[in-house]
Amino acid sequence: MNIIENFSLKLYNTFGVEAKADYFVEANSFTDLKKALLFRRQKNLEILFIGGGSNMLFVNDFKGLALKLNLKGIEIVKEDDDFVWVKAQGSENWHQFIQWTLTQDYGGLENLSLIPGNVGTAPIQNIGAYGVEAKDTITEVQALALETGDERIFTNEECHFGYRESIFKNELRGQYVLVAVTFKLSKRNHQLKTGYGAIQQELEAEGILHPTIQDVSNAVIRIRESKLPDPAQIGNSGSFFKNPVISKEKFEEVIAQHPTMVNYPTENGVKIAAGWLIEQAGWKGKRFGDAGVHDKQALVLVNHGKATGKEIYDLSEQIIQDIQSKFNITLEREVNMIK
Ligand code: EPU
Repeated sequence: MNIIENFSLKLYNTFGVEAKADYFVEANSFTDLKKALLFRRQKNLEILFIGGGSNMLFVNDFKGLALKLNLKGIEIVKEDDDFVWVKAQGSENWHQFIQWTLTQDYGGLENLSLIPGNVGTAPIQNIGAYGVEAKDTITEVQALALETGDERIFTNEECHFGYRESIFKNELRGQYVLVAVTFKLSKRNHQLKTGYGAIQQELEAEGILHPTIQDVSNAVIRIRESKLPDPAQIGNSGSFFKNPVISKEKFEEVIAQHPTMVNYPTENGVKIAAGWLIEQAGWKGKRFGDAGVHDKQALVLVNHGKATGKEIYDLSEQIIQDIQSKFNITLEREVNMIK
């Protein structure tokens, strides 16, 4: 295990911004991981786990130990006639893992195709797309406590999943590293979720009347590719903001002034399409130096080349303030700010 000082994290974040970590280490095993945690305790360092680097913005350099995990492997831990329980190690690439499930004809994750990142970070913000969230199939999360190195299994309920939320982002923030996730997937009678508008249209356009899980995955891939920039080509972190949920009373006020505002009723209030708000406020496709708002999806902030994390952060601040003043709605960031 090699601890490197003053390490550039530019290649380890999908925004592609320059940021240095005081220390960097790659852990290829549990033994490495425990050694790295010991080093961190001895030096009393802040720690940052780098998975796919797909949900973080380095606003500043990182003063501490950045730890890149390389724990790979997929195994079937249980199965019956209808379902299979698959345990994937945290550093498996999310999309490649889904592609593997599809080759086995295991259903449940197809709508989440092409989301950047790794298996181990999926539960932290309960990634979701096209009417499905990671929480729908996760049965267990295996984690190590940073202070003691002890293992703990979290059941689905114990993860306190919500919309882009979990216990790991809130009550237990910074206390555990997620090393493996178990999913319950269907082996037959797959329950396809094609209700989300664009998927149905995409399948119809292809003339597919009886879609398989692979067809649904392909449709999702085509939709995402048409709207969302590929981080390998243009730095970004997917949706930068969450879609805000406002009370019904407040919604009545706002919709009266903005009758075309895209909205979805939920149990806790009304969810507003933040992309719509940002586009209406005139930000879509805007560029300030190399920091910008994507021209096909206003919810996505992009690095056109050499933007700094601070420039992207400042742009997000301006957008938040503008949406507040124009719509009286507060946007929250989905991406983690590393300050
Ligand atoms: N819209 C606009 N202008 C825009 C973008 C969107 O008017 O620039 C409108 C669309 O026309 C549509 C509505 O807003 O009526 C929703 O847009 P879209 O279907 O693209 O989805 P989203 O709400 O913007 C969410 C997730 C995405 C996920 C898609 C599809 C969040 C924060 N984002 O985006 O997740 O892929 O739905 O399910 O919930 C991510 O989290 O990184 C991510 C990409």
